[in-house]
Amino acid sequence: MDTEHGILFSDEYQKSLKEQFYYADEDPVHGPRLFFENSGGSLRLKKAVEAKCAVEQFPDCPERVRGRGLELQAYVKNGTKEILEVVFGASGGALLTELSASQSMYQAVGAIMENVKWGTNAVTSSLEHPSAHDAVEYYCGKTGREFRVVPANKTTGGIDPDEVMKYVDKDTCLLSIMAASNISGNIMDIKEIARRAKEVNPDIYIVSDAVQHAPHAVIDVEDWDVDVANFAPYKFFGIRGCGYAYVSDRVARMPHHKLIHKDADVWSLGTPAPADFAAMMAVIDYVCAIGEQFSDASDRRSLYIEGMNRIHLQERALLFRMLEGTSEVPGLRHIDRVEVYVDMEDLTCKDLIIAMGIKGIEYSECVQRYLDHGVTVFERLSSSMYSKRIVEALGIEGAIRVSPLHCNSTEDIDRFLSITKEIAESVSR
Ligand SMILES: Cc1ncc(COP(=O)(O)O)c(C=O)c1O
Repeated sequence: MDTEHGILFSDEYQKSLKEQFYYADEDPVHGPRLFFENSGGSLRLKKAVEAKCAVEQFPDCPERVRGRGLELQAYVKNGTKEILEVVFGASGGALLTELSASQSMYQAVGAIMENVKWGTNAVTSSLEHPSAHDAVEYYCGKTGREFRVVPANKTTGGIDPDEVMKYVDKDTCLLSIMAASNISGNIMDIKEIARRAKEVNPDIYIVSDAVQHAPHAVIDVEDWDVDVANFAPYKFFGIRGCGYAYVSDRVARMPHHKLIHKDADVWSLGTPAPADFAAMMAVIDYVCAIGEQFSDASDRRSLYIEGMNRIHLQERALLFRMLEGTSEVPGLRHIDRVEVYVDMEDLTCKDLIIAMGIKGIEYSECVQRYLDHGVTVFERLSSSMYSKRIVEALGIEGAIRVSPLHCNSTEDIDRFLSITKEIAESVSR
């Protein structure tokens, strides 16, 4: 099957998926809109919000051994198992739960860099979100190691394995490279990066921020051969207020913040939140249900992989349409004044995140114009500490980030393109 330009869900199936999300086509107060800002927080799956709400209604302590408390505990137990096995693809290791993905990143990087006694440097990339970049910088400062930053490929918007290898040596204790960029949408070749880094230093710890990749494609910590990966449910059809990270067996057993008498590899500290796990299990159910449409597999991981791969193909098809357009409406690549930053022909290296600009309109002004047309997008500017290093690394001054979701229709994309054309034409008038 030719998947170069993706494969669309049938219209009927796409509609049935969109119906499972809250406010996909309108805001209850602001009215109809195209929500193309899923990278800042994705559309919420109704079942995830309902599960959170339903479970949250019970006061019982989830650490009890009987009655409702025991039932609540099951969400934590099953949720932990499913997040590790089904989402991360891990057969071992431990789950680190925090209030945000950033916190989970700091905890994991801190544990590694404070416990590992060898190694004089640690490496990350210029494209990382501040939570991953700064965690490495902070712990380099704290542990007296040299902090090294791999520059981005300004043409592709990615991080080249060859470039990474210029910074990694036998004294590198930790290498942190994101799975996909939250600004350019580039998917990094983590597997190849990890493989090559381990050729130089077999003991190196590899960390991958998978926050922006998780809602678009499969995470496989064992195939990637990484020690740490994390994601945020609120960017993954779920809820705000929690962040999860996988840590490998060798990291799980390192001394870390935990109650002294708990097992060495326990990373939960304090009473867990069953409702958060219930919400995440609803997200996993949703992805597996997509998998069931296309596969006869019966185990959850296989169904999840199939579901995620189908989501990925639908998104690639939407991305291709966004860039190339149709005979009715030109794509972003063909609209005068529109620039797609770090654009590349090969869409197999991209998640559904586009960085663009319209010549002659300042980014914030442009985002406002989109909003006036009922489209929510977001500007990444060098004046923001969240974006400055990243947009500079890509050689641009800023970008409008456009991030639809797999449940969007081709009509949604075409509407966005018509509005873009209208905004671009208004500049020359
Ligand atoms: C790539 C990436 N990593 C990490 C984070 C941080 O997630 P959180 O806000 O849950 O800490 C974000 C948030 O935008 C992100 O895009």
